[in-house]
Amino acid sequence: MEAGAGVRAGFPDRLYIHQGAKVVASRAEVFESAKIILQVRAAAANPDGSKADLELFRDGQLLIALCDPLIDPQAMLALARRNVSAFALELVPRITRAQSMDVLSSMATIAGYKAVLLAADHLPRMFPMLMTAAGTITPARVFVVGAGVAGLQAISTAKRLGAVVQAYDVRPAAKEQVESLGGKFVEMELDTAHTEQKGGYARQMDENFYRKQRELMTKVVAANHVVITTAVVPGKQAPVLITGDMVAGMAPGSVIVDLAAERGGNCELTNPGQTVVEHGVTILGPLNVPASIPFHASEMYSRNISSFLLHLIEDRKLQLDLDDEIIRETLVTYRGEVVQPVVRELLGLNAAPQPQSTQPSLTERPS
Ligand code: NAI
Repeated sequence: MEAGAGVRAGFPDRLYIHQGAKVVASRAEVFESAKIILQVRAAAANPDGSKADLELFRDGQLLIALCDPLIDPQAMLALARRNVSAFALELVPRITRAQSMDVLSSMATIAGYKAVLLAADHLPRMFPMLMTAAGTITPARVFVVGAGVAGLQAISTAKRLGAVVQAYDVRPAAKEQVESLGGKFVEMELDTAHTEQKGGYARQMDENFYRKQRELMTKVVAANHVVITTAVVPGKQAPVLITGDMVAGMAPGSVIVDLAAERGGNCELTNPGQTVVEHGVTILGPLNVPASIPFHASEMYSRNISSFLLHLIEDRKLQLDLDDEIIRETLVTYRGEVVQPVVRELLGLNAAPQPQSTQPSLTERPS
């Protein structure tokens, strides 16, 4: 383990040593001595550091990390050229068997929770209804756009703080989930028959759809004090669902927390990584939100990645069983090639090659 890797999350080196880890002084030494590299963010998911890391990889090494392969497939090609076999954890399929490895769900849970705390911190009102000697305080009204993992966690966190919560998602199945958490699902007259793609993710809709959605949402946005947006489509820019005019229609002091900021943002006025005030409305575009709750983000991430690693090991040996859906869908580079079909398509490569062997040069005892 790289010395100090866990310190800022509240995990000093001695805890790892106590568990039997060997802590080495430099990052380079980790790459020199390990056969398998476990990282939080690699390739395109780590634009600041991945170029330097690329030089450190050795021929035949295995990488397991968040890699953002659909956003920058070229970075995966660079790993393939160094003959690194890379697993991108974003691609873990949404199946029951893989739930313990689902890093995106873990991080979205944290992001949804924190988005509500950020909103509460910036809102000039309290969330709960209070009956006091100084009069009755009405509860804050919160509208959550996108009721996936992050959105659902935002709904339950806002409810716990006493807000009145409304939510919308293009996937019809989300209605029941919103209601089960005590939120009110906003009905809109949109054709949502084909809004869902494989794995339960939303499909990218055309501009007409989004225009109509914006029109229908305008009144709802204006009626709420807080809007939390989480609407994304894997591998695509986030749809713009809140225009500048819609922001202008909100009451002064309202707050928008745009969790889609990393993908460009759901609000037209979002400035990724910044907090801006426009028309009297505070708009937050936080990046890498889970890192702001590092203790639990690390704990959840390490459970997910351990579970993934153990899935690759049988009889103390690495076994890349390419008939296994989890392995096949997450393995992006292998034996010098990009093998993941979606990433190959993004790179303009033909459909072949699909890796055949289940016994790569990686059957040695894992290090
Ligand atoms: P995500 O982070 O990709 O997207 C967030 C939400 O935004 C989604 O619910 C999506 O439908 C919604 N969205 C996209 N465009 C929108 C628009 N124009 N307006 C409103 N909402 C919009 O999604 P996430 O949270 O990673 O998961 C989504 C799906 O995956 C859900 O069906 C969930 O139940 C499923 N899932 C399944 C798991 C499993 O079976 N192991 C684990 C986690 C999630």
